[in-house]
Amino acid sequence: MSKAWEIEQFLTVGDGNLLIDGVSAVALAREYGTPLFVFSEARIKHNIARLKRAAEVVDCRLKVCYAAKANSLMAILRVVREAGGELEVNSGGELWKALKAGFTGDQLIFNGTSKEVWEIEAAIEAGVYAIQVDSLYELALIEATARRLNRRARVSLRLVPEIETGTHSGLQTALLTSKFGMMPDEALGAFHEYKDSEFLALDGVHLHIGSQNPEAEPYTDALRTLFENLEKIYRETGLRLSHLNLGGGFPVNYLRDNSHEIEFPQAQREMFAAGFEPSEAIRRAWEFVRETARRSNAENLLADLTLLIEPGRSVIADAGVCLTTVRNHKERPLMSGEWRGFGEEEKRRRGEEETEASAAGNPKSEIRNPKSQMASDVWLLTDAGFNILLSMETYKWYYHLISAERAGAEHHTPYKLAGPLCDGGDVYFDIEGEGRLPDYRLLPEGVAPGEVLALLNCGAYSIAQMFQYNGRFLPAVVLVRESGAVELIRRRDAFEDLINNDLW
Ligand SMILES: Cc1ncc(COP(=O)(O)O)c(C=O)c1O
Repeated sequence: MSKAWEIEQFLTVGDGNLLIDGVSAVALAREYGTPLFVFSEARIKHNIARLKRAAEVVDCRLKVCYAAKANSLMAILRVVREAGGELEVNSGGELWKALKAGFTGDQLIFNGTSKEVWEIEAAIEAGVYAIQVDSLYELALIEATARRLNRRARVSLRLVPEIETGTHSGLQTALLTSKFGMMPDEALGAFHEYKDSEFLALDGVHLHIGSQNPEAEPYTDALRTLFENLEKIYRETGLRLSHLNLGGGFPVNYLRDNSHEIEFPQAQREMFAAGFEPSEAIRRAWEFVRETARRSNAENLLADLTLLIEPGRSVIADAGVCLTTVRNHKERPLMSGEWRGFGEEEKRRRGEEETEASAAGNPKSEIRNPKSQMASDVWLLTDAGFNILLSMETYKWYYHLISAERAGAEHHTPYKLAGPLCDGGDVYFDIEGEGRLPDYRLLPEGVAPGEVLALLNCGAYSIAQMFQYNGRFLPAVVLVRESGAVELIRRRDAFEDLINNDLW
């Protein structure tokens, strides 16, 4: 029977091993060492093609601007470009990387809340499609910079749409309480003030309703908000915007295995297991807006419009797998004597096992851990910590874990998992005890040091955020090319990398 996490022609089981695009994950781990990130070129291209399908459901141009912050390794940017993706960048550094990776100014949008003058200059000089403006202060700064350079900066104003989604509180970006953007009234004032500016082309409005949004409906609210603003701006200032930017946030199914063996609070489960089609959400949103425009006799404002989206994780998350080796293990007495972290299905299964065991005269604890007379947890300590998967600590993010060596085996044995860092928070469960992550991970029986495990869906916001805490070498990254060849796209740190920037 195929596993819930398998993805045809991408993540599969062969000879019991995890295969990534047909390449043995264990062989890669042996060759390049772990932790190791493995990316699939075919999957990245597949994901971009999936997002580009939205062009078929809107009657306007569509720009798919991959959010580089999710992962801006040069090889990844190049694959995105080859796949026909464009780019959203967030700093002068990302802009520099994008240009180096071969993107042209017209393929770039420049975002960010604290832009410095040198970054604004670089964006104007690169001729980016739009600088996404975060405040009125920043708009004045861009105008002054463009004036000094005697250039015209193309801008889009980021709005606070006050749309809440079912995502993690830390990923809500469209509320009054979030730090991003300006109020629609402020934006309208700016359109009045700068509409005749020689140095600013006021081209669009932008918003981003947050990341990993579990439902499609907020995208309709978001596009309606953008269109209402476009219409109001036109009616009040006569300015006709050329683009609307709907942001990113399309979800990835991180849970994969939604069998309820793993226990999550319902809201967490819905967020991690989310998986609607972006083009379907956009189709519904577009139809709603077209109808609104028709009713207000403003359909002409949709003509010649360009719609932008800025997907990050939906391009790169499931294209990346993190391979890790178990380096240590230990047993600990169970604190509560209770199995926590399992769903009803698993509890029922365990209950049945216990009943059978009692009938056979075995004490319960021996069933829980056959090797020990007392109930205990088996801990596995891996070489992948939150220094390479930061979201696991900051957002209690769930990455599904399997054995790469025994991918085809039953995963029913519970273990407590932790990374290698000298930091109590470096664990794969919720150390704060708020139940945002399962307490246990299910793997095959008898996992011991040396076994290679795989954390799935690790491509987004991992490598982009990694750091050398505890003097740990940043990992190597390989790309499985469409041809099947494997290329090293980032070498593992060496000792010298730990002190490269130290001057003393
Ligand atoms: C403005 C903006 N656009 C796009 C994204 C990408 O979001 P996601 O990776 O969820 O698609 C983000 C991420 O937070 C963002 O802040």
